Amino acid sequence: MKQLIGPFNQILTLNNLPLKGALSDDQMQIVIDGGIMVEEGRIKKIDAFHKLQSEADQITKVDGDYVAMPGFIDSHTHMCWGGHRAEDYALRTSGATYQDILNRGGGIHETVRKTTVATDENLKKTLTGRIDRHISDGITTTEIKSGYGLSVEQELRILRLINETKTISAIDLVPTCLAAHVCPAKFADKKAFLDYLISDLFPILKAEKLTNRIDIFTEEGAFDVDISRHYLSSAKQMGFDVTVHADQFSTGGAKLAAEIGAVSADHLESTTDEQIEFLAKSDTVATVLPGASLGLGMQYAPARKLLDANTCVAISTDWNPGSAPMGDLLLQACVMGAAEKLSTAEVLAGITYRAARALRLDDVGILKPGCKADFIAFKVADFREIFWHQGKLKPTLVWKNGNELIGN
Ligand code: NIG
Ligand code: FE
Repeated sequence: MKQLIGPFNQILTLNNLPLKGALSDDQMQIVIDGGIMVEEGRIKKIDAFHKLQSEADQITKVDGDYVAMPGFIDSHTHMCWGGHRAEDYALRTSGATYQDILNRGGGIHETVRKTTVATDENLKKTLTGRIDRHISDGITTTEIKSGYGLSVEQELRILRLINETKTISAIDLVPTCLAAHVCPAKFADKKAFLDYLISDLFPILKAEKLTNRIDIFTEEGAFDVDISRHYLSSAKQMGFDVTVHADQFSTGGAKLAAEIGAVSADHLESTTDEQIEFLAKSDTVATVLPGASLGLGMQYAPARKLLDANTCVAISTDWNPGSAPMGDLLLQACVMGAAEKLSTAEVLAGITYRAARALRLDDVGILKPGCKADFIAFKVADFREIFWHQGKLKPTLVWKNGNELIGN
């Protein structure tokens, strides 16, 4: 059955745009007074509404001014956690650093303790609540990392919970294993911890199909570049896609990500021109995380420079209890766009098709025939009004696989 939805004042398809580099708003394909024809959960056609009307079996009309675009994609989150870190936040705003707190056994370790004692029920409930918030914010695909387990048993528990939630979630979830978040206290030797994950965890991830993505926090105080290389190479040899928490406080992770063929290098707040060169020559997506800069009160990743050097820049929330507790993708992308002088097209690309690239997904993030019918619409007449509201304006319509999740 062919269902026509519209008419929308503007449909921003994000189709036919380059994967890498700077973008100007006039490069965007905008269908005026457009309609979206959906069949079996996928986009069949996009054109002027009046041209599609005669072909439709069913018409769903929207009333008033609307701008439609692909559902947003959040390609980097840590949304499954127990407890909160409000004390950390207060300590940091009073002058303590993220790394001081971590080195004293707090920070990530604190959330590991709270997640370990939380019941499965509680973890699933809070995760579902965060997913619901993401849906209201227009996100139709989100990545979710483990990483608050730090043992084979607990990491498996978290990844199984994420996968259980995935089977009932209205939006697509992409689980990632971040068991190599930090080294737990009982392992004196970081390499021994990583070898234990490689030998005891990776085969079960494969056997149970819990994830095909492996992440590591490459950072002073977490895992240095050399042992990260060893870990990621083993993961790649076993057929996993790899991604890296890179250049947040110290550098070297971005170059490693590019060399090893990681799907993305994420954070990059402290990256350098040299590291950017390596990313630009690679197929690795540079994922910037403005929510972590806001949460830690530190500089943004150099998104403008990264785009001008011709990298593919995705923008994600990093939603986690420590550095990025807010989790509002549109707000963060808008605010960073203003600070980094990004065009509307660059911001939108970063939260749609370029973020899809970071997850190796090719049927979301663009509105074109064959792609999933994942789209959202804002109650405005011109797309520029959305960013002018700086994230406060939320979508009024959210469609996923051709189903209306949020409607009028
Ligand atoms: O991406 N930097 C490492 N991991 C997360 C923070 C996790 C936490 O503090 O709980 C991040 O910022
Ligand atoms: Fe992160």
